[in-house]
Amino acid sequence: MTMAASHAADKKLRDAIFGATAACNKAAEKHGLDKVTNATIGMMMNDEGGLAVLPTVEKVYRELETEEMFRYAPIAGLPAYLAEVEKLVFADNRPEGFIASCATAGGTGAIHHAVANYAERGTKVLTSDWFWGTYNVICNECDCKLVNYKLFDANNNFNISAYADKVAEIFQEQDSLLVIINTPAHNPTGFSLTEEDWDQVLALAKKYAAQGKKMSILVDIAYIDFAGEKNEVRRFMRKFSNLPENVFIMFAFSMSKGYTAYGQRTGALVGVSSSEAVITEFQDINKYTSRATWSNINRAAMTTLVKIQQDESLRAQYENERDSFYQTIQKRAEVFMKEAKECGLNALPYNGGFFLSVPAADPQAVCNKLHDDLIFAVPLKMGVRVAACCVPEEKMHGVAAKVLKALKAVENW
Ligand SMILES: Cc1ncc(COP(=O)(O)O)c(C=O)c1O
Repeated sequence: MTMAASHAADKKLRDAIFGATAACNKAAEKHGLDKVTNATIGMMMNDEGGLAVLPTVEKVYRELETEEMFRYAPIAGLPAYLAEVEKLVFADNRPEGFIASCATAGGTGAIHHAVANYAERGTKVLTSDWFWGTYNVICNECDCKLVNYKLFDANNNFNISAYADKVAEIFQEQDSLLVIINTPAHNPTGFSLTEEDWDQVLALAKKYAAQGKKMSILVDIAYIDFAGEKNEVRRFMRKFSNLPENVFIMFAFSMSKGYTAYGQRTGALVGVSSSEAVITEFQDINKYTSRATWSNINRAAMTTLVKIQQDESLRAQYENERDSFYQTIQKRAEVFMKEAKECGLNALPYNGGFFLSVPAADPQAVCNKLHDDLIFAVPLKMGVRVAACCVPEEKMHGVAAKVLKALKAVENW
């Protein structure tokens, strides 16, 4: 018996993280929290295992006035919030052209709106083969099909030829295409496209644009604040100036990681175009989709961001705190990458962000084997994901060698 509409009846989330976290909690009960290494959580944890919250963000949030928390916000978002988000997205690298934004329920909401409004129903959406599983859920929900290209070439560089082949194949079948690129500090690998990679991606977009094809590129920058120096990691954004009208660039901005505001569900979709009409349409259609999904979003979190960004001393304080969080995660990841190199573990290239990944033929079996050493990681389709954001530096020592040991045991090396 099913009461669900026929298109909805098969919906079921398969959550690899939930199973891994449950196994970890069970082991912690049995052996003690200090004995287990929990590398499953997608939030930054402090060295004591508690949630790491940026003190300035928490302080400003807790001091908000009643109305700043409880009033409805405009559907498109508070204007001051959108203005500050645009400054944060680009820093000194704002491309020339028309730019507008729409407040969304986290980065997830931004990705949802991009797929809902820029991928034709029934068509293919393209992302890399290592990808955040939620992209697939959103595409299914919007009646699209997510397809992949191989992210890495034989030297673990961006595989431009695999990307180009896939784009060519899709444009044989459809006249418009939405591509999702998660950079810098990709989830789950920590990889970032170089400026040269971007040159090639944009050259391809221009080639198809000249043939009348429409291409939208959604850049998912969820981890940008954990990727390196502010302007250096944003330099590629200047390349989005003066693109053809039928190449549309969007950014999925999120307060989850950069503000440790995960549960506050606040983000934005930012659009860049050389066409004013494309940007006016962007504002109209995304506001409409917001009205139809969540209406307006979290006023308190938007106001918190505005208060911090508009006050020089709060902003400096916040940036210092966030930078220290970034350094902490970098150190944890460095331990893993250094030891991986020393022991000969094939970890994927890590530039920044919350996660590291190791390819595996049977990721679930490798993760199960790691449980023998009380290490808990997330089995993805193509490998094992280790969350550097939640493993203290001290506990990270030895993890790479144990992953290698588990791989060898499972794959009968
Ligand atoms: C790749 C990627 N994009 C976007 C997000 C957006 O997160 P949120 O919806 O919490 O802003 C996440 C969160 O885990 C992510 O990993």
